[in-house]
Amino acid sequence: MEEKIIDESQQGQSLVLEQRPENRRKLFIESYGCQMNFSDSEIVASILANEGFNTTNRLEDADLVLVNTCSIRDKAEQTVRKRLEKYNAVKRINPKMKVGVLGCMAERLKEKFLDEEKIVDMVVGPDAYKDLPNLLQEVEEGRDAVNVILSKDETYGDIAPVRLGGNGVTAFVSITRGCDNMCTFCVVPFTRGRERSRDPQSIIAEVNDLAEKGYQEITLLGQNVDSYLWYGGGLKKDYKHATEMQRATATGFAQLLEMVAEAQPHMRIRFSTSNPQDMTEDVLHSMSKYRNICNYIHLPVQSGSTRILKEMNRQHTREEYMHLIDRIREILPDCAISQDMITGFPTETEEDHKATLSLMEYVKYDFGFMFMYSERPGTLAARKLEDDVPLETKKRRLTEIVALQQQHSAYRTQQFLGKTVEVLIEKESKKSDLQWSGRTPQNTVAVFPKEHYKVGDFVNVHIEDCTTATLIGTAVGYSEKR
Ligand code: SAH
Ligand code: F3S
Repeated sequence: MEEKIIDESQQGQSLVLEQRPENRRKLFIESYGCQMNFSDSEIVASILANEGFNTTNRLEDADLVLVNTCSIRDKAEQTVRKRLEKYNAVKRINPKMKVGVLGCMAERLKEKFLDEEKIVDMVVGPDAYKDLPNLLQEVEEGRDAVNVILSKDETYGDIAPVRLGGNGVTAFVSITRGCDNMCTFCVVPFTRGRERSRDPQSIIAEVNDLAEKGYQEITLLGQNVDSYLWYGGGLKKDYKHATEMQRATATGFAQLLEMVAEAQPHMRIRFSTSNPQDMTEDVLHSMSKYRNICNYIHLPVQSGSTRILKEMNRQHTREEYMHLIDRIREILPDCAISQDMITGFPTETEEDHKATLSLMEYVKYDFGFMFMYSERPGTLAARKLEDDVPLETKKRRLTEIVALQQQHSAYRTQQFLGKTVEVLIEKESKKSDLQWSGRTPQNTVAVFPKEHYKVGDFVNVHIEDCTTATLIGTAVGYSEKR
């Protein structure tokens, strides 16, 4: 069993907010995996809206079924295979229905999908979505269609995403695609290609558009946002050829953050994911300068052991990571920090595992996402290292770190007791239709009685009680600072 402290309710299907009355065809689109996949599905829905598709949440009604897939762990791929079986059952009743696989699994398995899974008509990698109209045409003419070409410059910066399944309050805006870090366990550099950054002007335009539509919070997305770099071109590895002028006017992540924060001073700005090896202090200073940038950093570390970090090709030691944590605490005293951890990476000893536990004690993370190591074909770890930690040991270590994280999460939520925090209302609480649910700037979920407030309001909430993951309180008025 793989454990993970995460809200999984989002996984799976999403329904579009706006429908075009003239569109006659029906698209059923589901997303699995990371936020980037959910964001990509919004780009796909936008491209297909121009091809006459509205989305539906009824699989049985669909002319086209698309599943945006994740390859990060074997379990993620198994989930998608189960979904394909389900589509197959529906397709037997409605043979005209077409099925397409998008995203990382499409990229990883390519044409193999068509042979292995007879049900699949179309395989489309993460950089090929603009080719969907052509691919659809091929499928309609009775041919299978594949495009898994990775691009060096595609950022979909010119496509206005159609917002799917959202709350109309919070949205993702992608700023980089791909990853150049080559962590040895990770399949992302293979499935999503080289790292490239999106033109800051197109990012600001998208943020302004979201603000006009009433959105109150955006999350800037990238596999590694800290390495965002725009110098007139977006491909990181070509920066060495940039002219002096391009270098002098380049935009880094801290500058981008400030541009976005200034463009929409009433919006909350978040970002994900930060990478310890690329995060610089100027980002922390930008965060402290603009109160609308939320004090929350997702800072995956994967392991507390320097030896394992080296095997993982993470470019920092345990001590360097701790130093970065110290700087965050100094510059942003109320900043929440969360982690990703992997247990049972090849050669991990009990001592390495203890080093992870002690690093967790040092940081006392607010939240965590914890996984057992899953060997991914083609990665450096799979080629060079034997997956030698027994499953039972991986599981036990995972249970230990999850239990410790739960203690720390409980400790963190308790620190809010008696305080008044700003909450952006996102939706009805899952537990009670009399309560709203939203998040604090630190990303902690807070629930409280609805009274006269509504979704999208910023309210001050007095915290009276808490669980491990949730703050419970009463609203005491609108947030003055807005
Ligand atoms: N930089 C990315 C990381 C994507 S993967 C981001 O935007 O978050 C998310 C997490 O999955 C990683 O931080 C890591 O903890 C976990 N992960 C990646 N590859 C894995 C593997 N082979 N086995 C287990 N967990 C893995
Ligand atoms: Fe994967 Fe490491 Fe990039 S975890 S996404 S290769 S930063």
